[in-house]
Amino acid sequence: MQIISGLDIHKKEVKKDIKRIIQKSGLIVFPTETVYGIGADATNPEAVKKIFIAKGRPSDNPLIVHLATIKDLPQVVESIPELAIKLMDTYWPGPLTIVFKKKSIIPKEVSGGLDTVGIRIPSNQIALEVIKAAEVPICAPSANISGKPSSTLFKHVLEDFTDKVDMMIDGGQASIGLESTVIDMTTPIPVLLRPGAITKEMIEKTLEIGIMDATEEHVKDIPRAPGMKYTHYAPQGKVLLIEGTQSHVIDYINNEIKKLDLKRVGVIATEDYLSMIPCFYQVNLGHENHLDEIARNIFLALRQMDAMNIAYIFIPALPKHDLGKAIMNRLMKAAGNAIISV
Ligand code: TXA
Ligand code: MG
Repeated sequence: MQIISGLDIHKKEVKKDIKRIIQKSGLIVFPTETVYGIGADATNPEAVKKIFIAKGRPSDNPLIVHLATIKDLPQVVESIPELAIKLMDTYWPGPLTIVFKKKSIIPKEVSGGLDTVGIRIPSNQIALEVIKAAEVPICAPSANISGKPSSTLFKHVLEDFTDKVDMMIDGGQASIGLESTVIDMTTPIPVLLRPGAITKEMIEKTLEIGIMDATEEHVKDIPRAPGMKYTHYAPQGKVLLIEGTQSHVIDYINNEIKKLDLKRVGVIATEDYLSMIPCFYQVNLGHENHLDEIARNIFLALRQMDAMNIAYIFIPALPKHDLGKAIMNRLMKAAGNAIISV
């Protein structure tokens, strides 16, 4: 297995190695602006199957296909709706995955048997260089063992994939820290399938129409992403997500902590909460008004709890506006969809 610094991505030998590995059905872990990805040739079923094995991922959960330029889109999708063009023009390259009707060049192994495919052009320069060097579309799910928190640091992908892939590229910390927004544009009214840094409000403003939101718990009978039914982001410890006024949440956590083995208790919270919860194992998400900083830190915080062998992880709920919606979506999954109201 080769380990490459992202700073060397422009070197001829590195580009050659990327092309050779991808052509030989190999796997490459690479950084993107959202989270690290584990990539293979999206047109090669044998290579695609290896991703599912390396991750331990259920085969009906489709993979996102990454392109380096919009020019390559007609090669992989059947049609490009007018509304999708508006989104592409506004948010690509960037953290938005758009679901289209797929062409047969994308095998069923990528689409989980669906006739659609999710496409994204990442903005991370290293990711773009990898796709360009490979000279084929690259399918890449988040680079984490299935069910674990996504990887936002190189250290995380080393933990999960050392010697299970052919190359790993170190791009430092992911700048966004949450996976891309996923939107299905194959239906008469677009459907939001996964919240992310591109929010529903931003999309509606760009499209100048209302869209459906399949990520709201109470919404029924609209198509969902296959990935939505699987457990996600689960650290080894139990995640206890608490909502309520700040003083109630702090009192509740302080009371609960007293009943537990202090060596096995951790708190993940913003600065304003942490200063009032005297617990040894704390991970600071940052300032409560800086949702982008909190988003960048959230998966890292969950993984840090595992590293400290924490059994009970208390997390005060975060505000659900803007980026907060995507953060809370991940935290709800990490907490097994349970929230404690106090
Ligand atoms: O930010 C990201 O999107 C990262 C980086 C590496 O690009 N990738 C990522 O992939 O998060 P993954 O496999 O962890 O999540 C893909 C999500 C899943 O929830 C999957 O069900 C959904 O996208 N998805 C993919 N293709 C789909 C399709 N054709 N229809 C509906 N949902 C789809
Ligand atoms: Mg994932």
